[in-house]
Amino acid sequence: MTNSISVLERDSSDSPCYNEEMKTISSILSIQKVVTAIRDKKRRIGLVPTMGAFHEGHLSLMRKARRECDIVVVSLFVNPLQFGPTEDFKRYPCDLMADRKMAQAAGVDFLFAPTAEAIVPPDLETSVSVDKVASRWEGTIRPGHFRGVATIVAKLFQIVNPHVAYFGQKDYQQTVVIRKMVRDLHFNLKLRILPTVREKDGLAKSSRNKFLLKKERSVASILYRALQQAKQSVQEGEHDCQRLAQQVALIFSAEPSVQVDYIAFCHPTTLGLVSRVLRKTVLLLAVRIGSVRLLDNIILHRQRAL
Ligand code: PAJ
Repeated sequence: MTNSISVLERDSSDSPCYNEEMKTISSILSIQKVVTAIRDKKRRIGLVPTMGAFHEGHLSLMRKARRECDIVVVSLFVNPLQFGPTEDFKRYPCDLMADRKMAQAAGVDFLFAPTAEAIVPPDLETSVSVDKVASRWEGTIRPGHFRGVATIVAKLFQIVNPHVAYFGQKDYQQTVVIRKMVRDLHFNLKLRILPTVREKDGLAKSSRNKFLLKKERSVASILYRALQQAKQSVQEGEHDCQRLAQQVALIFSAEPSVQVDYIAFCHPTTLGLVSRVLRKTVLLLAVRIGSVRLLDNIILHRQRAL
């Protein structure tokens, strides 16, 4: 790494390095020089795209990348393009110092934290939009969201040129959209989708959980219970998705503070609704509790007939 670090040190537009091990880079040119030098040495680069406010979910991706790749790059960019006009862009949590410490401890080599002006200049005209899979579910409720995600992830893939990119199953539809984009645009990289990391009561870790009021937080594990109920019913032989959806809806109806956006039993790659549980079916849930939207999902497997 000596060469690539000296490349970095010559670029005065970079923020100071946090410490000897992990480097924080803000300039696009600098990270491009670094990754080119790394690739010249035939070393494998893992990229973990994030919006910061790290928790165990993010850290699990970083640790996996650390085990599987020679060099780990984490990008930290709160992407304005993926927030709607009425959404929480302005209150999105941000603590660069804490994030640096956590990334460093997870063994990250480079934290790429570009400025908004560099990634989304006012004259930006190009975007990436994935049609069908991005138009369903979250796409209906948050128009333009996945175009924002795909555009930024495509830019990050272009800039960092990783061999492997890591994403969480927590945002299932996002993984489907990105996989489709990778195929359609011939990105030469491998995607790794890792399991959802949860709190003790099953609530999926999320940067937005901190906005739940105490009472709302105690209700929020209802998503996990709903997923587990569906899993159990499928294991017991219930394969009719309408009946399964009714069972899940009944669980939510016991909690008046929960507003359901969707309960969807879907094909794992098209995200189209299915009427019966297939060999592999994904259950997508989205609810609102107070001012917070919570998403979760589970992959259900049809039991083989004996
Ligand atoms: P962000 O919400 O910061 O999430 C970064 C990555 O961490 C995503 O792949 C997400 O699925 C994963 N993740 C979040 N919570 C998780 C959990 N509880 N368990 C496992 N993985 C989890 O997702 C985004 O940022 C953005 O849309 C991004 C892809 C960076 C594009 O801007």
